[in-house]
Amino acid sequence: MASQAKPDLSSAVPAHGARHVAIIMDGNGRWAKKRLLPRIAGHRAGVEAVRRVARAARELQLECLTLYAFSSENWKRPASEVADLMGLLRHFIQSDLDEFHANGVRLRIIGDYRALDPSLVSLIEDAMARTAANSGPIIAIALNYGAQDEMLRAARMLAARAAAGEIAAQDIGVADINAALDTADLPPLDLLIRTSGEQRLSNFMLWQAAYAELYFTDMLWPDFDAKALMKALDCFRSRDRRFGGR
Ligand code: FPP
Repeated sequence: MASQAKPDLSSAVPAHGARHVAIIMDGNGRWAKKRLLPRIAGHRAGVEAVRRVARAARELQLECLTLYAFSSENWKRPASEVADLMGLLRHFIQSDLDEFHANGVRLRIIGDYRALDPSLVSLIEDAMARTAANSGPIIAIALNYGAQDEMLRAARMLAARAAAGEIAAQDIGVADINAALDTADLPPLDLLIRTSGEQRLSNFMLWQAAYAELYFTDMLWPDFDAKALMKALDCFRSRDRRFGGR
């Protein structure tokens, strides 16, 4: 990949006004195909984009960056690709945790990650515990994540609390649902980006996106960088957010 001049992010801080940005990282396969490379090469280049964008998010003073890395539907992919993705995730946590920690990043995983391979679960839990007391931005990685599954788990949790007499069903409110979701302690979602030209949410943060601004770009995920994130944030800044008011 051609090396790019590092953009000056200082002028964009904190004028963009976004606290929480989430990204559906799409297009790794097409990026590889265009280069006659195997899909794993696209995913590897996708990890490089994750590193670039995580650094940019820190420099742009985002409070939280959430990245959709593996959906609860991605198990339908060939076993070899699933294994490649799990391998990349494992390697990413092992190799980048020190840098995250040194920069005060809190690493979070959303999704039903406890259903993953036990050795990956313990790596994830150690990484989250090690960075939990940091005060910098949150990098949240969605793993084995599906919004419908997240809402189903939240509904079951609230139903169990109601059955146990801890809350009355008619008293359950929006705040209770927020608190039962994987994103309970993350800031409200401001901007949801999807790369690769597709314009759908693919079961990602459906509840949280209720008032998020949506931004679609044709850029394939492995090409995404700090400049592209700044462009999305510039667009976000120009939006008139009314939250149902006028
Ligand atoms: C979509 O591209 C991308 C994914 C399903 C996985 C995203 C994973 C990474 C960027 C790498 C691992 C992540 C981390 C956080 C280390 P696609 O394969 O659906 O592309 P296509 O639609 O062009 O085929």
